[in-house]
Amino acid sequence: MRFVVSTADAAGQKTELAVVAVFEEGQLGSPARSLDKKARGLISAVVDGGDIAGKAGELLLLTQTSGLPCKRILLVGCGARADFNRKAFRKVITGAIRWLSHKPYTNAVSFLAQEGVKGADAERLARITAESWHTTTYKFTEMKSKKDKGESALKSFGIAVKSSRVVTVARKGARQGNALGLGMCFSRDLANLPGNICTPRYLVKQARALARDTNRLACKVLGEAQMNKLGMGALLSVTAGSVEPAQFIILEYKGAAASKAPAVLVGKGITFDTGGISLKPPATMDEMKFDMSGAASVFGTFKAIAELQPTINVVGLIPTCENMPGGKATKPGDIVTSMSGQTIEVLNTDAEGRLILCDALTYARRYDPAALIDIATLTGACVIALGKHHSGLMSTSDRLAARLLTAGEKADDKAWRLPLTEEYAEQLKSNFADMANIGGREAGTITAACFLGKFTEGMEWAHLDIAGTSYRGGGSKGSTGRPVPLLLEFLLSR
Ligand code: BES
Ligand code: MN
Ligand code: ZN
Repeated sequence: MRFVVSTADAAGQKTELAVVAVFEEGQLGSPARSLDKKARGLISAVVDGGDIAGKAGELLLLTQTSGLPCKRILLVGCGARADFNRKAFRKVITGAIRWLSHKPYTNAVSFLAQEGVKGADAERLARITAESWHTTTYKFTEMKSKKDKGESALKSFGIAVKSSRVVTVARKGARQGNALGLGMCFSRDLANLPGNICTPRYLVKQARALARDTNRLACKVLGEAQMNKLGMGALLSVTAGSVEPAQFIILEYKGAAASKAPAVLVGKGITFDTGGISLKPPATMDEMKFDMSGAASVFGTFKAIAELQPTINVVGLIPTCENMPGGKATKPGDIVTSMSGQTIEVLNTDAEGRLILCDALTYARRYDPAALIDIATLTGACVIALGKHHSGLMSTSDRLAARLLTAGEKADDKAWRLPLTEEYAEQLKSNFADMANIGGREAGTITAACFLGKFTEGMEWAHLDIAGTSYRGGGSKGSTGRPVPLLLEFLLSR
């Protein structure tokens, strides 16, 4: 898709479809007014006739546009003008895109970003428009025998903004929104793939392909022998029951001077989590193919970075394996030694995410990261605490936590901070090893983060628990692409 930012006046714009706002009580937005004036009351007549009231989400197509350079007009209800905020804008642009993506038009111009929107400037509106194009038209058909991609005929999507003063920033916004959308779709594709296709080796292939196609991006992969040499006993204990070999993927994007410390993203890459010997119950176990959503979000973020080529340094670490039962599987009570040297009593083999992450966090030390962020579908408790709206954020750094919260806020991909104070660590005490891998039922999301915190001392570190936000279950089962928006916003704000 080509996004074309301009300062076009609706009444002067040649296009197959002009998309304009109508607010509640039939109030026309200024682009609609401009069309109305030139077409001698065409739109006000329709509004007065009661065919559109301006309620948020309403759509009405006008095909009689004599005297106007546009072939058609899509009137979009935007609700009360006083309530037209970023959330409302997202809603109406999504509705308009969904509608027009099924039409045979090859070009269209949206004038919605010419309206005043609370909490969003022209750059943000352009970004949301481009992002929404990708996320709204996304379909996962890879596993269907009939690959009816249902691709939209649209080739060019115009984004008209108010004044020439904001064209440059709006172009930047559209470019970032496009990259973000592509990154989210990539992340969703990986997460939606089933565990028999999306294996650790499949992720390696994806990483290598991305690095091959991208300037300034290098990919290295450690196999089990190398992990063994490094002493990654915690990670290796998780893969012990699986016949698929574990992989440790390293992505290094170098857009800034080598002396500049990188941000390091660590993504949990359990391609299927059966629970291991502490086997999960069968209901909804299929959803544990999404247990690599943290890894998928790192991939998606790197895809966006690859598109944008920003002047930053970013490292992605993806420890990836399956968690399976079997004759060689780790047993409850087994004690393993992590790369940090600390020993761990594995009281529950279903608390495996922290075991692969702790060795990746130790590995991250060699980068002396400016910020270290791990992203993981780590605990069911987080779904109970925060539901599907906020990702759980825990950090020992107030500064990093604040920056991540702000990034999530700006990108409409919100996180909520939970306390990470030392009293919780007591729950991880083990009679036999340096620590246990579980801390009991109370505050399960926080004790999981406490566990990780034992491996990040001295580093500027934050943990995102995305168990509730990265995918949906039930009838709308599928990956959401979160928290790629938060991560990209964070990285670009540095
Ligand atoms: N991948 C799961 C967490 C999860 C659960 C994600 C539900 C999404 C939805 C993780 O590996 C796990 O099994 N965690 C256990 C930890 C417990 C054994 C301390 C959990 O949350 O039950
Ligand atoms: Mn588990
Ligand atoms: Zn898991």
